Amino acid sequence: MFKPLIAPSILSADFARLGQDVDDVLAAGADLIHFDVMDNHYVPNLSFGPMICSALRKYGISADIDVHLMVTPVDDLIERFAEAGASMISFHPEAAMHLDRSIELVKSHGCKVGLALNPGTGLHELDHVLHKLDHVLIMSVNPGFGGQAFIEHSIEKIKTLKSRIDEAGLSVRIEVDGGINASNIAQVRKAGADMFVAGSAIFNTENYAHTIGKLKQLIS
Ligand code: DX5
Ligand code: ZN
Repeated sequence: MFKPLIAPSILSADFARLGQDVDDVLAAGADLIHFDVMDNHYVPNLSFGPMICSALRKYGISADIDVHLMVTPVDDLIERFAEAGASMISFHPEAAMHLDRSIELVKSHGCKVGLALNPGTGLHELDHVLHKLDHVLIMSVNPGFGGQAFIEHSIEKIKTLKSRIDEAGLSVRIEVDGGINASNIAQVRKAGADMFVAGSAIFNTENYAHTIGKLKQLIS
C-alpha cells in the first residue's frame, strides 16, 4: 500500500501571488503540487503552461510537480514540461495520437507517467499500457474547471482499477482528481486511491494547515 499523498491543485490558488501560495500549502503539509494545464481545445478552459512551471522552480519550489495535461496534441508539451521541471506528467488517452509513444516520451525524460481517465472513459484504455504506468489519474469530475461536485460512480471505477492493479501484481498509484473534500476523501481512500488532488477544498479555506491536516487525518 502506498503512503497517501495530498496534492493541492493550483488551479484554485491566487495567481497574483502564486509562489507564496505554493510555499504556503507545502508548509501546511501538502505532499506535492498538482498543475492543471488546459488549452481551450481539449477542455473548454485555458490555464497556464510550462513557463509558470519553470517560474515556480526558479522561485525555489523543490517539491514534486504533478503536471496534468488537458491538451491535445500532447507530445510537444510533454517535452516542454519535462524541461520546465515537471516530476510527473499525465495526459488523456483521447488526446494522444500514439499512446505508447507518448508514455515512452514521458519516461525518456525521467518523469513519472500517468494516464488520466475522464468520468466517461473506460478502464479498457489501460489494457495494453497499465504495466508501463506509475499512476492512473481517475477524473471524478469532467475536466476543465475546479470547484465541481464529485461524481459518485467514480468510487466503483477506483475499486475495479485497484483490484486490477493488485491482481496483476503491479505497483501503480491511483490518483483521484475532482471534487475531493473532507466529506468524501475517506470513502475514496477506502476504494483504493492513494493520491488525492484537491483544489477548491484547500485554496478556498483560510487555514491551509488545518484543512490539509484534516484531510490527512481522514485518510490515515
Ligand atoms: C479539473 C482539474 C482538477 C481541479 C480540481 O479539470 O483537473 O485538478 O482543478 O479542483 P477541485 O478540487 O476544486 O475539484
Ligand atoms: Zn487535475
